[in-house]
Amino acid sequence: MNVNPTKNEKHFSKDEFLVTKTDLKGRITYANKAFTNIVEMCEDELLNQPHNVIRHPDMPKIIFKLLWNYLQDKKEIHAYVKNLCADGSFYWVMANVTPSFYEGKVIGYHSVRRKPTESSMKIIAPLYQDLLRAEKQGGISASEKIVNELLISKGVEYDEFILSI
Ligand SMILES: Cc1cc2nc3c(=O)[nH]c(=O)nc-3n(C[C@H](O)[C@H](O)[C@H](O)COP(=O)(O)O)c2cc1C
Repeated sequence: MNVNPTKNEKHFSKDEFLVTKTDLKGRITYANKAFTNIVEMCEDELLNQPHNVIRHPDMPKIIFKLLWNYLQDKKEIHAYVKNLCADGSFYWVMANVTPSFYEGKVIGYHSVRRKPTESSMKIIAPLYQDLLRAEKQGGISASEKIVNELLISKGVEYDEFILSI
């Protein structure tokens, strides 16, 4: 999105679910009202756009690498994501992203996002800052090393870690 990110954070209620569907390449094929409301774009503007249209520059690349690795293994993934709105604001979500199957074949993906808890954000926001800093200095292998060391120290897989916080 061609907009300068601001420090303005948007919030949504814990009863709201922000839903999108994509094709196999991650191009948006559906967005629900809660999603279009918060990004301030109508469904027509979003349809056929790559999902990185709402990518926020503060998001570490390693999180999307993990996301696509899980999806390519036909597995669902949970991830905390900071997203960009059309006016430059941002909002945090706890996203579940999963392959959509038809007759055993993956035909696309869908994501349901909910409001993250305050306690999880206290862990994720500083972690992502460390990951971003590492990526700026040493590329994605540097942030991958941080994630791997964290998971080894906790003795869990990535998705287990996300669901535990
Ligand atoms: C179903 C689905 C939902 C996604 N949701 C988001 C999202 O909310 N925000 C985001 O930045 N990327 C999302 N992505 C990941 C994007 O496709 C993309 O990998 C990411 O924005 C990084 O883009 P880049 O590699 O071009 O920098 C989603 C992908 C899929 C398949």
